[in-house]
Amino acid sequence: MKIAVVGTGYVGLVAGACLADLGNEVICVDVDEKKIAALRQGKIPIYEPGLEELVAKNAREKRIFFTVDSAKAIRESRIIFIAVGTPQGKDGSADLKHVFQVAETIGRNANEPKIVVDKSTVPVGTSRKVRELIMKHSKHNVEVVSNPEFLREGSAVRDFMEPDRVVIGATSEEAGKAIYDLYRPLECGILVTTPESAELIKYASNAFLATKISFINEIANLSELVGADINEVAKGMGLDVRIGKHFLNAGCGYGGSCFPKDVQAIQKIAKDKNYPLEIVEATEKVNARQKLVPVQKLNKEFSSLKGKKIVLLGLAFKPNTDDMREASSIEIANALVKQGAAVVAVDPIARENAKKILKGIAYSDSVYEAAKGADAIVLVTEWNEFLELDFEKIAKEMKSKIIVDGRNVYDREKLISLGFKYYGIGR
Ligand code: UGA
Repeated sequence: MKIAVVGTGYVGLVAGACLADLGNEVICVDVDEKKIAALRQGKIPIYEPGLEELVAKNAREKRIFFTVDSAKAIRESRIIFIAVGTPQGKDGSADLKHVFQVAETIGRNANEPKIVVDKSTVPVGTSRKVRELIMKHSKHNVEVVSNPEFLREGSAVRDFMEPDRVVIGATSEEAGKAIYDLYRPLECGILVTTPESAELIKYASNAFLATKISFINEIANLSELVGADINEVAKGMGLDVRIGKHFLNAGCGYGGSCFPKDVQAIQKIAKDKNYPLEIVEATEKVNARQKLVPVQKLNKEFSSLKGKKIVLLGLAFKPNTDDMREASSIEIANALVKQGAAVVAVDPIARENAKKILKGIAYSDSVYEAAKGADAIVLVTEWNEFLELDFEKIAKEMKSKIIVDGRNVYDREKLISLGFKYYGIGR
């Protein structure tokens, strides 16, 4: 099948590479000439495990191509994926200008019947609007299918290839079937719905996952007050299959390019219908508070943070990504800098992106170097390399042995036995 994927961000590039790997001929389109030139040389603009190898393999086997010529890509393809960004508008809603631009281009260049697949996260009703816009300009019938993406940064390739489910929102049976056939090799549950349901499934799923995190974070804060251990509480809750064990890790809040944006967007969708989503509102509020919990712990420990050397382990919003968007480290670093602390951060991948956002902090390549003379260590992002540290060595380097474990990943008893004062989240 000949497929065009418009937009080479996380979603577009991963979808393009994976669809090529499933045997399709994929042409990836972007307006950014530099990005396309780099992609043609095999340079991947994002850090995503496995993606570079997948693109290289499919480029070698002549199944994936890159171009800035969207008109040509559209003309040559039967199926066109829209995977452009939907940044947050001023009022919290998704900004659809890129989606609509692509729709217009498709309409102007459709030289035969086509199927358009909307993979961008868009408000309910957008699929129909996209079709209307395309048909304003097209002489041929173009069907639009909503196919939300559920991949996670850091495991995006695996999430695409081994999904929990694929959702296809279609009004045309024929178009729905064509997209169904595209995903059939994945051998997963495929749910066919209306476009409206598909669009809402995406927002509702992200809002629910974010709510699960904020819920467990509230219970973590309560655990501390009543002397319970949130790791035990979450384990006990998660054993109930109706609750499930995933996404019950308490910590210093969620970040990223999706949860914060989608939690706001779904509230906007509801508000427009005069229906406030009170649980989702609370999710957002709890998360904003939770990001600063590590700083509150330091404030309990030190009467003033002025001049104190605080080491931040991890800056990316989660491990295995260089993405700093809405990362908890931003709030934490800013609050510490404001209170006069000397912040030194260590992150294996996100440092360059962090430098564009964080002001007034220093960086180090080595946790052991950074720990020299430090007053406290705060684990913000649970990168693998931070899980197996030699804390005996670190203890010798630090001025005061304080550790704030913002993701509850360390063995508390072991650290205490090494003379550390340990602060977790909810334990
Ligand atoms: C999220 C969803 O998990 C994907 O299904 C979805 O496709 C994607 O958004 C999207 O809409 O594009 P992602 O933002 O890549 O994926 O990251 P997650 O792994 O979901 O983590 C989000 C945040 O939640 C991170 O900051 C992480 O540290 C935090 N988190 C996650 C917790 O604090 N506790 C948990 O138990 C799980």
